[in-house]
Amino acid sequence: MYRSHHCGQLRALNINEEVTLSGWVQKSRDKGFVIWVDLRDRYGITQLIFDAERTPEAMVNMAKSLGREFVIQVTGTVIERASKNPNLETGDIEILVSKLTLLNEAKVPPFTIEDQTDGGEELRMKYRYLDIRRNPVKNNLIFRHKVTQEVRSYLSSQEFIEVETPYLIKSTPEGARDFVVPSRMNEGQFYALPQSPQTFKQLLMVGGMDRYFQIVKCFRDEDLRADRQPEFTQIDCEMAFVNQEDILNIFEGLTRHLIKSIHGKDISSFPRMTYDDALQTYGNDKPDIRFGMKFGELNAISQHKDFGVFNSAELVVGIAVPGGNSFTRKEIDSIINWLKRPQVGALGMIYSRCNDDGTYKSSVDKFYDQEDLAQWAEVTGAQAGDLVCVLSGPTDKVRTQLSALRMELAERLGLRNPKEFAPLWVTDFPLLEWDEDSKRFHAMHHPFTAPKPDQIKLLDSDPGAVKANAYDLVLNGNEIGGGSIRIHDKATQALMFNHLGFTPEEAKEQFGFLMNAFEYGAPPHGGLAFGLDRLVAILGGQETIRDFIAFPKNNSGRDVMIDAPSAIDAAQLNELHLKVDIK
Ligand code: AMO
Repeated sequence: MYRSHHCGQLRALNINEEVTLSGWVQKSRDKGFVIWVDLRDRYGITQLIFDAERTPEAMVNMAKSLGREFVIQVTGTVIERASKNPNLETGDIEILVSKLTLLNEAKVPPFTIEDQTDGGEELRMKYRYLDIRRNPVKNNLIFRHKVTQEVRSYLSSQEFIEVETPYLIKSTPEGARDFVVPSRMNEGQFYALPQSPQTFKQLLMVGGMDRYFQIVKCFRDEDLRADRQPEFTQIDCEMAFVNQEDILNIFEGLTRHLIKSIHGKDISSFPRMTYDDALQTYGNDKPDIRFGMKFGELNAISQHKDFGVFNSAELVVGIAVPGGNSFTRKEIDSIINWLKRPQVGALGMIYSRCNDDGTYKSSVDKFYDQEDLAQWAEVTGAQAGDLVCVLSGPTDKVRTQLSALRMELAERLGLRNPKEFAPLWVTDFPLLEWDEDSKRFHAMHHPFTAPKPDQIKLLDSDPGAVKANAYDLVLNGNEIGGGSIRIHDKATQALMFNHLGFTPEEAKEQFGFLMNAFEYGAPPHGGLAFGLDRLVAILGGQETIRDFIAFPKNNSGRDVMIDAPSAIDAAQLNELHLKVDIK
């Protein structure tokens, strides 16, 4: 028996018991006549004591030689601590060791294995197995486990069946590049790793599974950010004989269940907003609604004077920053400089201070009088003490810039409380989006998304205006899920492929299997997929998904621990019928 208890378990109640513990040496303090060792395992830390009076000399010497992260087993008696540590669950007791066994030695770790570590990110990724010993990483993984367990339990209670779908598939165009896998047995042919199990889950609906889910790895060869990894996990779901309302209700239920079971909080409101309204009100399709600062469009009340910048702009739009009138000139300049950085790219910002006495002081007093500024305040919802910030220019650009400013100011003002959860459905996404590079329309969600039935007629005349039965679930300003009602008849699917620029032959080549299936009684169906990594990170009060993945990739898509990707040898290349020219 390696242990009778774990290192987070023993309390005053256990005093006088003989116990055996195993774990890692977190640290030791050698006072000459007495040595304390902190013994750590996944569950906690227990203090061991060796002293010259009660411990045999050989064991004291052995204890003195223990280095950080040595793996040991001890047997001893639980005794009351002379000086208790209220910060530690086991802080009332310590173990007077009678037997010490060294299970394994350890090299000095390259960074300290403490909550606050001295290791940089790359170093910790290289030694991820050591980083996982630290509470912040370990607790995130345990938290992830808890979330997935709740997901499985909730969906199972709603009659969803978990079905595994293949990883070696044929490429499906879903926006990102595929990772491909050469086939040894089929010369010159490649599998693709799934960007999502989209077509398979639809085939499961044709197969009559009715309610499917899968906690599944997805692979996308795209540029990485804090909320994107090349391999990530989805909670992928699909349902048959449902409309959009049914789907939103089920996954609203899941979201409520998670927030309740994880944080004990009831979600009081679960609003919905159309895509167009989200853009108009918050400047982006995943608004953080934990705070206000809604956009106020000012064209009608700012283009009647001689201010050329506004007069020539497609959109003049502002937000009221709560308490912003207290910003000094220097602080406002720093905001303007922040906006002018190439990442945001604004040309400048106009502002109007809302004074406590009801007067206004703007950066364009030359052009606008008190009455104008009062209207700006009204439209942006500004109160006395606020600052109205106004941007102008081409609509899409200005909305993106003001949205970035809104988020930045919310961050600076501490309005993004990670303990508060504000979900939002964004609905009625456009079916298609114009791609400047390829000069054609792409499916905004994916090619299997159904247009709103009354809008199919617009496909020829105004494709960009067609809305889809597609929706995203947004949590605290992050897209944590997305889905749609699917096309389930061959004719509409063929029409869609045609509008996406596929010839009938290309459509058949790539998606013949799905079109064929639609000829064998496909039920109406729809679904959605949550990004599990994002969901877990946000529920955990953070936004960097790497911190919730056991073995993540770095920003260049590398696993620096196992050193992948890596070259393969000539024999392996040959076997795969590949030729590689290494420059
Ligand atoms: P979508 O592409 O919107 O939909 O993906 C669903 C959710 O997955 C998460 N996500 C990611 N998370 C981490 N790293 C990435 N690279 C990454 N890419 C996406 C997001 C996103 O909302 N098959 C459809 C779903 C459907 O229609 O049912 C799909 O994959 O949180």
